[in-house]
Amino acid sequence: MSILNLPLSEAKEKIQSKNVTVTVVGLGKMGLPLTTVFTNAGFTVQGLDINEETVAMLNEGKTFIDEPHVPERLKDAVEKGRFKATTNIKEAVENTDFIVIIIPVLIDDHGNADLKGLLQTYENLSKHIPKGAVFIQESTLPPTTTSKVIVPYLENQGLKLGTDFGVVFAPERTYSGRAIKDIEENYPKIVGGADEKSAELVKALYEQFVVKGVIKVSDATTAEAIKTFKGAYRDANIAIANQLAILADIFGIDILEVRDAANSEPFSHIHLPGIGVGGHCIPVYPHFIIQKGKESDFIPSVFVESRIANDYMVDYALDLIDLITPDWQRNVLVLGLAYRGGVKEHRLSPTLRLFPLTREKQPMGIKVYDPLYSKEEIERLFGKETAFDADQFEEALQWASIVIIVTDHQEFKDLNPLKLSNKIVFDGRYVIEPEFAKDFFLIQPGRLGLLERMGIIPKIHPQISSFPKINF
Ligand SMILES: NC(=O)c1ccc[n+]([C@@H]2O[C@H](COP(=O)([O-])OP(=O)(O)OC[C@H]3O[C@@H](n4cnc5c(N)ncnc54)[C@H](O)[C@@H]3O)[C@@H](O)[C@H]2O)c1
Repeated sequence: MSILNLPLSEAKEKIQSKNVTVTVVGLGKMGLPLTTVFTNAGFTVQGLDINEETVAMLNEGKTFIDEPHVPERLKDAVEKGRFKATTNIKEAVENTDFIVIIIPVLIDDHGNADLKGLLQTYENLSKHIPKGAVFIQESTLPPTTTSKVIVPYLENQGLKLGTDFGVVFAPERTYSGRAIKDIEENYPKIVGGADEKSAELVKALYEQFVVKGVIKVSDATTAEAIKTFKGAYRDANIAIANQLAILADIFGIDILEVRDAANSEPFSHIHLPGIGVGGHCIPVYPHFIIQKGKESDFIPSVFVESRIANDYMVDYALDLIDLITPDWQRNVLVLGLAYRGGVKEHRLSPTLRLFPLTREKQPMGIKVYDPLYSKEEIERLFGKETAFDADQFEEALQWASIVIIVTDHQEFKDLNPLKLSNKIVFDGRYVIEPEFAKDFFLIQPGRLGLLERMGIIPKIHPQISSFPKINF
């Protein structure tokens, strides 16, 4: 009998003795680490992915996903017969008990969550799942989607919640680069069910490996809100820091000095400003809740403005460089494609916005260097002759007259300032100490006053006339 239709105590015993099968749908940067957490805990996992190459590689015990412990655990799971990947839906859900959905949900051109692929996946799965299997929705969704969209959608396929299937929302709460540690050790797992019994079962499942335990919240919508509210909160806090940085430039003071001193009080948590926010979490989740607010004629304007404010930091960078050198007849080097240091992930990275805007300035040349990306990978995004290879850092620096730092990679933090002689450097991540800027211009947002006083740049007044008019 299926997990959902067993008496609760019996179902829990089955879970505790690892006598259940888990299907993971989406074997990417987050799905694969989670898979290896399950296999490491003793569960058998059937992986489903649409990418045939990924599936073939994984079945050989190999992966490109560069997360600590994942390659060894994967190899071990394949050798022990605890993991098999497939592109075949029927095979992937055969005799399964839990089906984890961890495929990306992005935003469409109107800023709304694009659920088409997700719903199609549920529809395809629902045709083959064993009666009483429990879906665990891990990829982030706008609040109310699990109960008001997914459940009715599955019921329209003729399935009944609570007997034919169960659904919980159990958000992924990980940071690329430390996924396994985050899942197993760093945070409690959040679980909110569309039906109560599924929530109990999924709680029991995650309790097998989450050291800090499982927080079972009232329902799926609460769990969705925990994830999206946190993301939007963070985006708004970064926007506050960014706007304070611009104000600091207007006042001629140093935002980092203000921040350090202000944060000595327990009620002040001013974030680090910078050249913008990227990745497929923080810049996306505000859109999820704005969309939901709008559906009820409520515009959560703080989050609308925060998105605009954070995107604007790229324009601000270019405006400040303009003030130092209105003539862009130079070679511009963008340092970093990744949205965050040490992580090979460029979705919604500020560089994607910066590159075309810089090109409009008609510099002599513009190229990107990122130690984690090959020339080909970068040129696939921006075209021919737009990149240096990962081993060409020296050459890239020699070529450039203007350098714009977007990513706080360790390589950039360790950069010898002598290599920047005579250049104009915009440091959007505060990786360069102003005291080392002896023979180059250094611009950092929120620090113009300090840099002027240190004689690093001439006296300039920030140009902010280009800040977009807010239009809800
Ligand atoms: N990457 C992160 O840092 C992070 C952090 C927190 C939460 N998340 C959540 O995890 C989700 C997944 O992110 P990711 O980084 O693993 O994405 P990813 O792009 O690395 O991987 C997605 C995988 O899913 C596969 N896939 C896509 N559609 C599919 C379908 N219909 N059926 C089967 N497989 C399919 C792809 O081939 C790919 O292998 C995100 O939407 C987000 O909500 C990610």
